[in-house]
Amino acid sequence: MERTFVIAKPDAVQRGLVGEIIVRLERRGLKLVGAKFLQVSRELAEKHYAVHKGKSFYEGLISYITSAPVMAMVWEGPQAIVAVRQTMGATRPVEAAPGSVRHDFGLTVGRNLTHASDAPETAVFEIGLWFKDAELVNWQRPTDAWIFEGN
Ligand code: RTP
Ligand code: MG
Repeated sequence: MERTFVIAKPDAVQRGLVGEIIVRLERRGLKLVGAKFLQVSRELAEKHYAVHKGKSFYEGLISYITSAPVMAMVWEGPQAIVAVRQTMGATRPVEAAPGSVRHDFGLTVGRNLTHASDAPETAVFEIGLWFKDAELVNWQRPTDAWIFEGN
């Protein structure tokens, strides 16, 4: 089973959309295995977005993610990484598919509501950066058998 790291960014928290984001991932069939509500430090933001350092939008991105609290989460399921990115939609809300979070609630790339890991190695790195092992919960969900085959 695959795990991915998700952030409901400051704009999602300020706009009261954390529940909406969680509901969409829950309804999809993904399972929440970790969550924390926090104000992101500049140090954590710089580690998380190290790959974007030097890009034109980097400083704006760091100030956006540290500007107000976020909800950080780990979700689990078959192909969770690609499934969650599909639910969130393309980076630019005007390019995101109708029905995706960024399409349905966003307009501009600088306020695109969510983050989701983009590859298995990134997911492992980000989960380790934001969560201690003990903060992730292994739990059984009997309905899994009705959501995906082979369990
Ligand atoms: P994320 O990492 O947040 O899940 O988004 P993503 O993979 O779809 O996009 P990525 O290229 O990793 O960019 C990370 C975040 O940086 C902001 N951004 N701004 N102004 C710009 O051109 C620009 N490009 C990216 C967005 O907040 C994006 O989610
Ligand atoms: Mg990204």
